[in-house]
Amino acid sequence: MTPILELANVSKRFGGIQAVKDASFSVGQGEILGLIGPNGAGKTTAFNMIAGFFKPDTGTIRLEGKDIAGKKPWEICEAGIGRTFQLSKPFGDLTVVENLMVGGFARNRDRRVNREKAEEMSAFLGMAAKRNIEANNLTAFDRRKLELGRALCTEPKLLLMDEVVAGATPSEAGEMVELVLKVRARGISILIVEHVMKVIMSLSDRVVVLDYGEMIASGPPKEVVSQPAVLKAYFGERYVQSRA
Ligand SMILES: Nc1ncnc2c1ncn2[C@@H]1O[C@H](COP(=O)(O)OP(=O)(O)OP(=O)(O)O)[C@@H](O)[C@H]1O
Ligand SMILES: [Mg+2]
Repeated sequence: MTPILELANVSKRFGGIQAVKDASFSVGQGEILGLIGPNGAGKTTAFNMIAGFFKPDTGTIRLEGKDIAGKKPWEICEAGIGRTFQLSKPFGDLTVVENLMVGGFARNRDRRVNREKAEEMSAFLGMAAKRNIEANNLTAFDRRKLELGRALCTEPKLLLMDEVVAGATPSEAGEMVELVLKVRARGISILIVEHVMKVIMSLSDRVVVLDYGEMIASGPPKEVVSQPAVLKAYFGERYVQSRA
């Protein structure tokens, strides 16, 4: 089966920093792939190339076999990739439903249809009771869920999620895990960047590890997190030696 997303030899440099170097990995249809690595490893840069915010210096990015590298964000959204941002920025003076409608307009101009879709999405997010609250008055976690809902309203085949439980309590993180599994159950493939290991371990079918822009490991999460190269990237050489 063709993977939904396929990166081959993708690189991006910012001045003297090689943010992503020769990355090649794919996301299968219906798969949840975790993209992990220490701060500054290049995860968000990889995301931004897939979502069309940066053009890769080299390499191809294929969505269902078609190269999308260098296309504009709205073209990539139209092609079927949705994303959440590491920093969520809803329209503060719009309500939950109105924010969700903004996502819907990417697919559909009909206000009535969009409103209905947004109402449904607010229920899917467990936010039906808050649907007429302005985003400014939501908790940080509700804003994250809203961000996810807005991306879902663009009807993606593939969803990119960047640190969706950052700053969340353990029970909120658990709720987000359930929500992401419900998204996948709708047939949406997912690429997720996350520092909270419990979340990555319980969600990902496979993980890809970046360190200084390079892929250092990939495979099932339980196998990957015990590899010496991965432990070294996260904890340093001394930690790995002390375990030997
Ligand atoms: N727009 C930019 N201009 C210049 N350098 C950048 C830019 N974006 C990222 N970088 C640099 O590229 C490298 C990779 O950054 P990136 O944000 O992709 O890492 P990350 O893995 O998402 O980190 P974090 O876990 O902290 O979010 C870092 O050294 C960063 O400083
Ligand atoms: Mg990042």
